[in-house]
Amino acid sequence: MVELRTDRLTLRRFRPSDVDDALAYRGDPEFARYLPHVPQPFTRSHAEEFVAINIADRYTWAVVVGGRVIGTTNLEVEDEIAMLGYALARTHWGRGLATEAARTVLGWAFPALALERIWASTDVDNARSRRVLAKLGMRHEDTRGREVFYGLPRAAWYSAPIAAPR
Ligand SMILES: CC(C)(COP(=O)(O)OP(=O)(O)OC[C@H]1O[C@@H](n2cnc3c(N)ncnc32)[C@H](O)[C@@H]1OP(=O)(O)O)[C@@H](O)C(=O)NCCC(=O)NCCS
Repeated sequence: MVELRTDRLTLRRFRPSDVDDALAYRGDPEFARYLPHVPQPFTRSHAEEFVAINIADRYTWAVVVGGRVIGTTNLEVEDEIAMLGYALARTHWGRGLATEAARTVLGWAFPALALERIWASTDVDNARSRRVLAKLGMRHEDTRGREVFYGLPRAAWYSAPIAAPR
């Protein structure tokens, strides 16, 4: 896995020593509100399992600030298409960090993985997440039940003003 950096963030592979940090931010019902796969209460054994799975995943980055893991940015890659995901500790919301992390991952992934398209989905009521997707230049393409789908073709990524220096 490639390590990525921004002015504020380091994006790196998970390590066994990240269990305490994962436990601290994932055991928050507000964090997990739109993440049905995150059990509440979130126990140490959930945190250990989460870290072990992510250590083995080539495209899940631990988002690190001040030496602490505060969340994840991940891609699920299938051929030339990747699904984007992100989740940060509530204490770090509202500072542009999820957008910064995701933009950095996309800036690496489009050329490195020769991607043709990125997509993402979220709950229709997850306004913060929808705003992140809009800030990345992603377009709302479909709604199925409570789930909204966004897409970003390669050409749009490279032509959008947002694709300027990152
Ligand atoms: C969604 C999430 C990643 C956003 O992280 P973040 O670092 O706060 O995101 P950013 O700061 O980059 O952008 C958030 C945007 O939402 C806006 N926002 C905040 N509260 C909002 C609200 N109630 N309604 C609408 N927009 C809101 C912010 O103003 C900001 O937009 P702006 O930059 O135009 O001002 C974070 O809330 C999170 O981790 N939530 C829990 C996990 C989750 O739901 N992940 C997404 C699964 S698809």
